[in-house]
Amino acid sequence: MNLHIFSKHTLTRVDEYLSTKLSSYAPATDLQTAMSYSLFNGGKRIRPMLVYASAELIGEISVLSDASAAAIESIHAYSLIHDDLPAMDDDDLRRGKPTCHIQFDEATAILAGDALQTFAFELLSEVNLGESSQQLTLMRELIQASGRHGMITGQMIDLAAQNQSLSLADLEQMHAHKTGALIRASVRMGALSAVTPPEKALTEKQLECLTSYANAIGLAFQVQDDIIDLTSDTATLGKTQFADANANKPTYPQLLGLDGAQSLVLKLHQQAMDEITLFGDKAQTLTAIANYIINRNH
Ligand code: IPE
Ligand code: IPE
Ligand code: MG
Ligand code: MG
Ligand code: MG
Repeated sequence: MNLHIFSKHTLTRVDEYLSTKLSSYAPATDLQTAMSYSLFNGGKRIRPMLVYASAELIGEISVLSDASAAAIESIHAYSLIHDDLPAMDDDDLRRGKPTCHIQFDEATAILAGDALQTFAFELLSEVNLGESSQQLTLMRELIQASGRHGMITGQMIDLAAQNQSLSLADLEQMHAHKTGALIRASVRMGALSAVTPPEKALTEKQLECLTSYANAIGLAFQVQDDIIDLTSDTATLGKTQFADANANKPTYPQLLGLDGAQSLVLKLHQQAMDEITLFGDKAQTLTAIANYIINRNH
């Protein structure tokens, strides 16, 4: 399994899907320009990679897998635009470029974020993509993950926790919501969108194991995000180094020390690996993505 090739394929596939759908919905406007700016400015596309890897593990990638990958990435792009706003993390740099509100203005950034959020559900609700009950299932997954039961609650905890110290359990809750929820949705929506012959349909047990894998790598992903805020420089990160420390955000390195946070990442990685043993060699792409997540420096 060559992750480099897999990630290039993923990027091309999801970007083509997103750009076709984005341009087919509306004429070129400032809104459209700001949406494109934040969608196509160099994201790693980890969530789409998880969608496709999980779909391929269970069966064949379907057009609903494409819509899921694109919808999740659209939610992710919107979340970053809003996360960077002055009222939130107040960051000027994202993926090595000016953040959306710096490149355009605050009002445009807020609206581009709003529009990317609804765009995600345009993509999933498009007619004739598949069985409507399956589309509804996928939409519910994304709603649960991105809304008040998931990411938004995580962002609220994050903002309220600034200048506070959180317990380890509270920090885990925050990370599980703000980042973990969308990563869990990526893995689950991949599996739920796969095409299989009836005798190979996704089982409860498989979905449970994939969900546990996703919970572990979702937390590992955000712990690593906290670590690289300290260990990678601004040029490597594409976002300002020490942003968390300067904003006095509670993070894993702050609570456990850098070594403690790094050990936790390794422990979570092992947990994730244990969860997918039942798939054997077929889970090699999910294994490679987990390895990438814990070794990433940006
Ligand atoms: C950054 O996510 C925000 C977090 C949830 C920690 P990514 O590291 O996946 O960002 P991009 O899309 O690759 O820029
Ligand atoms: C962002 O977390 C999570 C969401 C956008 C939901 P961070 O604030 O840690 O992400 P970065 O470090 O700005 O990318
Ligand atoms: Mg934030
Ligand atoms: Mg931030
Ligand atoms: Mg961060």
